[in-house]
Amino acid sequence: MADLSPDQLAENWGAIAADYERAFEGLSTQYAAHALRLLDLRPGERVLDVAAGTGAFSLQAARAGAEVLATDFAPGMVDRLRARIAAEGLPHISAEVMDGQALALPDASFDASASVLGLIFFPDLDCGLGELRRVLRGGGRAAVVCWRDPADLPLMKLVQQAIRQVAPGLQPPSTPPAWARLTGGGLKARMEAAGFQEVAVVTSTATQRILTPEAYWAGFTRSAPPLAFLFGQLGPERTAAVGRAYIEALRAQAEDGVPTLCVEASIGVGRA
Ligand SMILES: C[S@@+](CC[C@H](N)C(=O)[O-])C[C@H]1O[C@@H](n2cnc3c(N)ncnc32)[C@H](O)[C@@H]1O
Repeated sequence: MADLSPDQLAENWGAIAADYERAFEGLSTQYAAHALRLLDLRPGERVLDVAAGTGAFSLQAARAGAEVLATDFAPGMVDRLRARIAAEGLPHISAEVMDGQALALPDASFDASASVLGLIFFPDLDCGLGELRRVLRGGGRAAVVCWRDPADLPLMKLVQQAIRQVAPGLQPPSTPPAWARLTGGGLKARMEAAGFQEVAVVTSTATQRILTPEAYWAGFTRSAPPLAFLFGQLGPERTAAVGRAYIEALRAQAEDGVPTLCVEASIGVGRA
């Protein structure tokens, strides 16, 4: 098997579940809400969430009355999601540890399936898309969220700019990150190749207001495996210097005093 990157290993995701939730769920919840509207779920319909993380999609689907199975390959993520389900007392939702490339689920057993910024990490993207379709009954709907243009992600641009300031000699990795392999541009063809019909891809824009940049930065370095890996390599002093540069850059682009990130993703929807 080809070498896996830090964001393709379950233990790395499980270890950062709480920081992921704090830093990123504000964005993924907005994409998940958009995906839910596109799927047009009816109360009581059976829905599968693949690579569910801390539950941005699953929790909203369950609140809307769907019967939800949330799956993720990282036990740490599933534990966190189970705790949230219990805290809310939501009925008709459960969470299981499962690799999205080999779902231990029968064919044609769901009305809808989705993966929000999760399948993009799979070593075998086509296998993940095939699994999302396999579990759908005929005519069932799927939604897949990926980044629209990974080169244009404001989050990553700001971080890279801050790193260049602090460590100008640091070479960026020679291969593109795993999460940049499936983008808005390639999503339609890839879903069609996996057997989906009536595929449409729309742009989804999420905004995140960063009220306290210092608090945001504190968790940010641990909020996703590639970031944890990168800042682990940089060490504490250079990480702190990157943090100061990042916070300054965030404040510089605040229009009403509050730095606001506006981030575009793509959502592909199709039918089995
Ligand atoms: C960026 S998070 C997205 C989580 C959630 N869907 C959201 O929108 O907030 C990526 C998730 O994909 C999961 N993941 C990565 N590879 C996976 C795989 N092969 N099978 C199942 N889950 C996987 C990770 O554990 C992590 O929870």
